[in-house]
Amino acid sequence: MKSLVIASQKGGVGKTTLSLNLSFAFAKAGYRTVLIDTDPQGAIGLSLSKSLSARLGLADCVAGETTAEDALVSTRVEGFSILPVGTVSPIETQGFSSAVADGTRLRSVLDSLASRFDLAVVDTPCGFGGITAGALRACTHAVSPIQAEPIALRSVTQLLEMVKALAAEGDAARVAGFVLSMLQTTDEASLQVARDVWEMFPRDLLFDVSVPRDGVFLEATAAGVPVGLLRRPAPPVSHVFDLIASELARRLELNSARLSDGPQSLLD
Ligand SMILES: Nc1ncnc2c1ncn2[C@@H]1O[C@H](COP(=O)(O)OP(=O)(O)O)[C@@H](O)[C@H]1O
Ligand SMILES: [Mg+2]
Repeated sequence: MKSLVIASQKGGVGKTTLSLNLSFAFAKAGYRTVLIDTDPQGAIGLSLSKSLSARLGLADCVAGETTAEDALVSTRVEGFSILPVGTVSPIETQGFSSAVADGTRLRSVLDSLASRFDLAVVDTPCGFGGITAGALRACTHAVSPIQAEPIALRSVTQLLEMVKALAAEGDAARVAGFVLSMLQTTDEASLQVARDVWEMFPRDLLFDVSVPRDGVFLEATAAGVPVGLLRRPAPPVSHVFDLIASELARRLELNSARLSDGPQSLLD
């Protein structure tokens, strides 16, 4: 099983949106996918359903009170499950963060899910505190959204430096790329950031596809669904995640027992 942590120093840049929509895209493409929420504020749970945030989850697994298998929530999409963050009160956040910071416990949670899934997508809180450090140590790969707004570029250097420091100490995720997010093609400042990014970045560090700023994301968050499930036909922007997922499947060398990688015949 490969594991993909979605991380960035800054909050509100689209991590949770990317985690949810990307994991949904992977599941639709046939990869057995588990979305793991590590944000004590329960970002995934809150955006999907209030009942998810009341369930046992990752924090309870880490505390030895349940197992990841028991805490998994299956979805209506075949092969797509969610491991909510569980019950972490504000006063318990520091303890949870310290418990997962060295990556060992997250790695054993990932190991316990490895036979059931092809991919784990791990959403993280903002900043490079213990939780994100633990996830960056435990996961095989990392992706980071860059908000297409001035000063956002600093977050790129921060992530690369963090991964480098962790790698020097032991294990660290490989950076599989940055995704330009909230791109506003009608806004000159946003476009200028995009131009800078396109110019500066080696192609293997940047995805060809960017996530545009679109009101549909707020609608989807309010409705508690991935954008692809908001309505039929799915909003066009939902397909951005299909493109990113297929590019990532190649970069991660993702395998699925259900999919063959050669051409499939059109006719019987
Ligand atoms: N591409 C986008 N266009 C418009 N709104 C977005 C976009 N991506 C995310 N949002 C909205 O911005 C807010 C923050 O996004 P979120 O994914 O929660 O960020 P993070 O997890 O990095 O804090 C949410 O309300 C979300 O609906
Ligand atoms: Mg979030």
